[in-house]
Amino acid sequence: MHILIIYATVEGQTRKIARAMEDHLQSLGHAVSCCNAIDAPPSPENFDLVLLGGSVHIGHYATALKHYILANKAAIEARPNAFFSVCLHILSGEPKAMEEAMDITRQFTDACQWTPKRVEQIAGALKYVEYDFFKRFMMKQIVKREGGSTDTTQDHEYTDWARVKLFCDEMVALAEKGVGVK
Ligand SMILES: Cc1cc2nc3c(=O)[nH]c(=O)nc-3n(C[C@H](O)[C@H](O)[C@H](O)COP(=O)(O)O)c2cc1C
Repeated sequence: MHILIIYATVEGQTRKIARAMEDHLQSLGHAVSCCNAIDAPPSPENFDLVLLGGSVHIGHYATALKHYILANKAAIEARPNAFFSVCLHILSGEPKAMEEAMDITRQFTDACQWTPKRVEQIAGALKYVEYDFFKRFMMKQIVKREGGSTDTTQDHEYTDWARVKLFCDEMVALAEKGVGVK
């Protein structure tokens, strides 16, 4: 199967997740193209499955991702597809937090006039060491509510890598069954 992964990242965690998906899918024998949305990624036309992902920053995703989806909407919708959202809002594991995370994703996909066949919420990372003073302070206040660590002396990664692989496996299974093909 030919699989296209397009991602948008600010601090690198979504790229790390997209690359982990690429590695896993390649290990299963698939041909995978993994591209940053800002690097003129290929059209979905020659692919059997399309996975698009971005991180949430102040309730929004990267504009480059929106532009890519708007420009390639018909080709994305013509094949099995999914959106993976990387954020910290879901850290508490509370159903309400998951609903709010889904609402943020829905606002974005609605603005792209696209209904993904599947949406996956993936916990990201706190890069305290990389943040400037203002970001570090702001994120510390935010994660006090979300349930993340307030230890700013180190980074904290919350991504569930087993779940990332399972998401890929489930999407491949759907694509093999032809689910999501018009
Ligand atoms: C300035 C800033 C704003 C953020 N805003 C949100 C937010 O509104 N909701 C959320 O769930 N996570 C938010 N996050 C957490 C990021 O989604 C998380 O750190 C993610 O791993 C970033 O992925 P990236 O490195 O691929 O950009 C924010 C992080 C930063 C640094």
